[in-house]
Amino acid sequence: KKSQAWSALFSEPMSDLVKRYTASVFFDQRLWRADIAGSLAHAEMLAAQGIISAADWADIQRGMAQIRSEIESGAFEWKLDLEDVHLNIEARLTQLVGDAGKRLHTGRSRNDQVATDVRLWLRDEIDAIGALLEELQRALVDVAAEHVDTIMPGYTHLQVAQPVSFAHHLLAYVEMFARDAERLADARRRTNRLPLGSAALAGTTYPLDRARVARTLGMVDERGEPQLCQNSLDGVSDRDFAIEFTAAASLCMVHISRLSEELILWMSQNFGFVQIADRFTTGSSIMPQKKNPDVPELARGKTGRVVGHLMGLITLMKGQPLAYNKDNQEDKEPLFDTVDTLKDTLRIFAEMIGGQLNPATGRKEGGIRVHAVAMEEAARKGYATATDLADYLVKKGLPFRDAHETVAHAVKAAQSHACDLSELPLSVLQAFHPAIGPDVYDVLSLRGSLDVRRTLGGTAPEQVRAQIERHRQRLG
Ligand code: ARG
Repeated sequence: KKSQAWSALFSEPMSDLVKRYTASVFFDQRLWRADIAGSLAHAEMLAAQGIISAADWADIQRGMAQIRSEIESGAFEWKLDLEDVHLNIEARLTQLVGDAGKRLHTGRSRNDQVATDVRLWLRDEIDAIGALLEELQRALVDVAAEHVDTIMPGYTHLQVAQPVSFAHHLLAYVEMFARDAERLADARRRTNRLPLGSAALAGTTYPLDRARVARTLGMVDERGEPQLCQNSLDGVSDRDFAIEFTAAASLCMVHISRLSEELILWMSQNFGFVQIADRFTTGSSIMPQKKNPDVPELARGKTGRVVGHLMGLITLMKGQPLAYNKDNQEDKEPLFDTVDTLKDTLRIFAEMIGGQLNPATGRKEGGIRVHAVAMEEAARKGYATATDLADYLVKKGLPFRDAHETVAHAVKAAQSHACDLSELPLSVLQAFHPAIGPDVYDVLSLRGSLDVRRTLGGTAPEQVRAQIERHRQRLG
């Protein structure tokens, strides 16, 4: 009995091991919506071009509608023998509507079919990820808006450097996620191109209307122009769009991972800057006092997994001769897992930072809790305003290098008294330079330090407010 699409030529069946080794149906079945959409667009065009009859087209539509409802209800029987999502759906179609089902594959190969499916599926996932990225950015901007005047130590080398506002710090992540969204939107443009019509590798003899199929599938640019793969060999064989997407996803995860690392540090008792809601933490089975930041830790860990997928995909491509090779079946699991991991992570971070909407109050609750006092106390340690004293001396006429050296002496003196620069009496400060006057104490205050960093993109509250406004306009 014939169980495979190409059986006539084969003198022996596949062993069970080889069947399992070569089959993809257990993971690629998630492409079913894209597969049906691609098949319907192809069949509609075949009918419009007179390649199949109107009756065949009607049968195909009817059969696909039934298959769709079978899959949705879980009644569809996926068969390992039929290898992949494409052959499973086509076989069922033929079972349901007979010859029309057998005509569907006219002018098409699984090679251009699978490339189309993956592109359609990924395009829609990129859109979903874009929406989640906006949600996360909004959550960060909302928390930032509350903390324009919350002062924390800014670090370089994880050593206290200069004071910044917590809002300013959060907005740095908003910039990163905004660029991630740009990268994904750019990858989407190259993903949303139609391989169908490439057939197995060389194109096809049938008078296909590729542009029509592209339009049906929404594979068009901003001006509505159909986007077609322009070389059939390339159309069936490259997966650069998937690699590019995974690279953008990896960068996004790296940004999440940096944020995670900071949350984990900030939650440590030695910082005590923030808390996240209990539902994002776990306890310890031995230490009763523990509340561990599992979610940020896992996100940091899962970043490795996504970066691993990028390495997997890019390595998958490197030795392949033109055109299609079965190697490409291995693109799916890493790509699917990348999408799943990124979506879950973005969703969970938006809620962990921004909280959950309480329908009763119409407000978001249970987001990140910020301990402004602990942040400000930490900013008082480590001579965060030493640069401000140097700048003050420059304004009094000292060359910057001399001012830098003078302040280094003052810091050393403060260290030996175990106090802050602002706690040194004026007479002591004046011993370092006679130009220092009583107005120095404004300069040495954290707030004073923040207020004067007014360059565009700086940490001064007026600048930070302007950035929040810009992001709010952009995010709608
Ligand atoms: N399952 C295959 C894949 O994922 C579909 C294409 C198979 N084409 C072929 N000529 N064997 O790539």
